[in-house]
Amino acid sequence: MAKKIIVGNWKLNPQSLEEAESIVKITSRKLPRTTTVVVCPPAVFLSHLALTKRKLPLRFGVQDVFPENSGAVTGEYGPKMARSAGADYAIIGHSERRAFGETNDTVNKKLKASLKAGLISILCAGEKERDHHGHYLSFLKAQIEESIEGVTRPLAEKLIVAYEPVWAIGEKSRGAMNPRDLHETSLFIRKVLHGHFGNKAFSVPLLYGGSVDPVNARVMIKEGNVEGLLVGRESLNAKHFLKIIEAAG
Ligand code: PGA
Repeated sequence: MAKKIIVGNWKLNPQSLEEAESIVKITSRKLPRTTTVVVCPPAVFLSHLALTKRKLPLRFGVQDVFPENSGAVTGEYGPKMARSAGADYAIIGHSERRAFGETNDTVNKKLKASLKAGLISILCAGEKERDHHGHYLSFLKAQIEESIEGVTRPLAEKLIVAYEPVWAIGEKSRGAMNPRDLHETSLFIRKVLHGHFGNKAFSVPLLYGGSVDPVNARVMIKEGNVEGLLVGRESLNAKHFLKIIEAAG
């Protein structure tokens, strides 16, 4: 059976390197071998954490990358730099970045650059709202198809897709989605990926993200038909994050 994948997205937290080190220390205390655990800290903390924690059974990732590797671009970092700083993974097209104006076209460029640099790339997709007519399905289909355009089957070896309904993300959201609905949606996403990659689509891991916590983690994986979870808030609470990791295993 393939390893489950649990990814922690720290977003704009914590406020100091000391706190970041402490979360990593507690999180890595008893990690099961059956699960791949990835932590995505703010990029400014990445190289320190990745270099000093090299021996830990934990992988690191970035929350975004610029679609080019060099140039006169103030304030950005490219996928090759992220790799060199210790990242093995990259989150691409998170809804909070899309909210800053990132389009499917930008996400597509970032995804291809990230995959080409050898980063295991987690493409985020998800509708803002659900409607009774199923329009959200065409939205989701277009979002995924436009984001993976030009991604070849060999590049898809390192692709992960995270389904993150925007309405389920964050403190002010409606909370995690129903695992039965997740099951239906993950079948739908698989079908969309199959249309592009053929049978290769079956080896692209699917993650769920949106208000994952220690209580719902197991049911989301078991009944939701996904290979792992993308965790926001609860990945900053090392004890809760460990419980989520345990529940997934
Ligand atoms: P949340 O965030 O777990 O805090 O809802 C998930 C995410 O944005 O990836």
